[in-house]
Amino acid sequence: MATRVLFVCLGNICRSPTAEAVFRGLRPDLPTDSAGTAGYHVGEPPYGPMQAAARKRGIKMDDLRARQFIARDFARFDLILAMDADNLRNIEALRPAGAATPVRLFTDFGSDAGAVPDPYYTRDFDGALDIIEAAAQGLAEALD
Ligand code: 4NP
Repeated sequence: MATRVLFVCLGNICRSPTAEAVFRGLRPDLPTDSAGTAGYHVGEPPYGPMQAAARKRGIKMDDLRARQFIARDFARFDLILAMDADNLRNIEALRPAGAATPVRLFTDFGSDAGAVPDPYYTRDFDGALDIIEAAAQGLAEALD
């Protein structure tokens, strides 16, 4: 069965929607979504400067809207990918008893960066894109 993949960051307006958009371009056959561990930006499109940097690389994500990660996502997805270790901890804190869905660091799949640094704070949107593209390529090749 197709692996359903969920990308998770903090706000769901910079890193995880970008990861989703890059990955769906590589693996349009797999169901994908993204979410944030925080609810600050629920309903908003991806952050303008993030979209602009992505658009220069041919990545479109203006159709995406932010939502918050919820415990039920453990049942709705087969693989949950955290952009950094804080995200991973916050996701694991919501794991329902008995849920076996793996939660992994996105960068484990194809970058030695260890995390996707948050460009909302670093302002390095291109640096985040470089890491996201490398990890998405590795993930695309790793999944059946
Ligand atoms: P993201 O970046 O987690 O990559 O979407 C952030 C965007 C907004 C905020 C935090 C992180 N914020 O606190 O508003």
